[in-house]
Amino acid sequence: MRIAVVGTGYVGLVTGTCLADSGNTVSCLDINADKIARLKRGEIPIYEPGLEELVERNAAAGRLRFTTDTAAAIRDAEVVFLAVGTPPSDDGSADLSALWSVVDSIASLLHERAVVVTKSTVPVGTCAGIERRLKQRLGRDCRVASNPEFLKEGAAIEDFQKPDRVVVGVRTAEVGDLLRELYLPFLRTENPFLVMSPESSEMTKYVANALLATKISFINEVANLCERMEADIDDVRRGIGHDSRIGFAFLFPGAGYGGSCFPKDVQALAAMARDKGVTPRILSAVHETNLAQKHVLGEKVAAHFAGNLQGRAIAVWGLAFKPRTDDIRDAPSLDLIERLLAGGAVITVFDPEAMENVRAIYGDRLKYAPCAMEALDGAECLVIVTEWGDFRRPDFDDMARRMKGRVIIDGRNLYQPQDLGRRGFTYHCIGKLPVNGR
Ligand SMILES: NC(=O)c1ccc[n+]([C@@H]2O[C@H](COP(=O)([O-])OP(=O)(O)OC[C@H]3O[C@@H](n4cnc5c(N)ncnc54)[C@H](O)[C@@H]3O)[C@@H](O)[C@H]2O)c1
Repeated sequence: MRIAVVGTGYVGLVTGTCLADSGNTVSCLDINADKIARLKRGEIPIYEPGLEELVERNAAAGRLRFTTDTAAAIRDAEVVFLAVGTPPSDDGSADLSALWSVVDSIASLLHERAVVVTKSTVPVGTCAGIERRLKQRLGRDCRVASNPEFLKEGAAIEDFQKPDRVVVGVRTAEVGDLLRELYLPFLRTENPFLVMSPESSEMTKYVANALLATKISFINEVANLCERMEADIDDVRRGIGHDSRIGFAFLFPGAGYGGSCFPKDVQALAAMARDKGVTPRILSAVHETNLAQKHVLGEKVAAHFAGNLQGRAIAVWGLAFKPRTDDIRDAPSLDLIERLLAGGAVITVFDPEAMENVRAIYGDRLKYAPCAMEALDGAECLVIVTEWGDFRRPDFDDMARRMKGRVIIDGRNLYQPQDLGRRGFTYHCIGKLPVNGR
């Protein structure tokens, strides 16, 4: 099929590349000329495992093109995916300005039989709104469908190529069949292709993210409680997780969720509820709990140093909102950095992939270490924010030699407290009692 993908970010680039890899001819369109120029040169603007090789292969085969030329991308496309950003507005609702601007710019170029598919996460009713807008502009009905994306950054290619399920929201069986054909190469392990109305499909995406965010905020709240009750959240997790109604997935305590999806999608669903006169009690609590959790690491550092951070050398491991991505949108590391800078700390950071994105915000207000160990030289305290695999089994003896103070504040519970205590570290994590080194 001839496909256009509008918006060549994390979702658009992965979608376009994977669809090209299954044999389609794909044009990835973006208004960011610099991004498109880089992609044309074979540079991948984001870090996503496996993406570079796939882009290179499909671009070389002539199946994957990058362009800023709307007409060239849209005119022949049988399916047009919309994958532009839908960030939060001031009131938490999704800002659809990029989406509407795309709809307006492609309307007159759309092939008569083209199907416009929203891959962006959009409020319930957006597909219907696009149908109305296109009809107004073109004086005819257009085929519009919803196809929310469930990929996880850091495992995006794997998720796209082997999805748990594909959800499509369509008005006619014909459009459902067309999308099924497009996804067939990714459904060879019989994972379900679920067809529903665009409204249910749009809602499904928000409910999925809201439920995942709820699990995280729930476990974070009880982890904080465990610390005060002298209980251990890992034991509690084991105690509940074997109950098949509960399970273990997504119940890891931490420094709060970030990224471009959970925070904005929880708020957008709450805004939709308010718009319909429904009070979103759980969603509001999930969001507020998360905002508070993002301050927990900063509070632990401040408490350890009795509120005096002035001139303290603090190392930070992990800046991306999660491992295996360079994405720092809404990352808990940023809340920590703000807090430490406000207190006058001298901060040295390390992240395997996200350093340049953080440097673009903080410039020389931070020091940037070339590797995890060098970030520790002279540090009075290490704070771990992202659970990159590289941080799981460090050389503790080397760490102890490099650090001025053997203090670790671990927002991802990577180590065994008793083990760290024996090695002479003072160790604070989430949902367990701290241990004080010798
Ligand atoms: N990132 C994720 O993990 C993820 C997962 C599932 C769903 N989503 C949803 O997918 C959507 C896109 O997310 P993302 O993370 O890929 O965003 P992104 O910010 O990485 O990419 C959006 C792209 O759209 C481009 N763009 C903006 N206006 C445009 C226009 N008028 N014409 C052409 N291009 C335009 C931007 O330049 C940018 O490259 C959002 O709605 C998001 O909620 C994201």
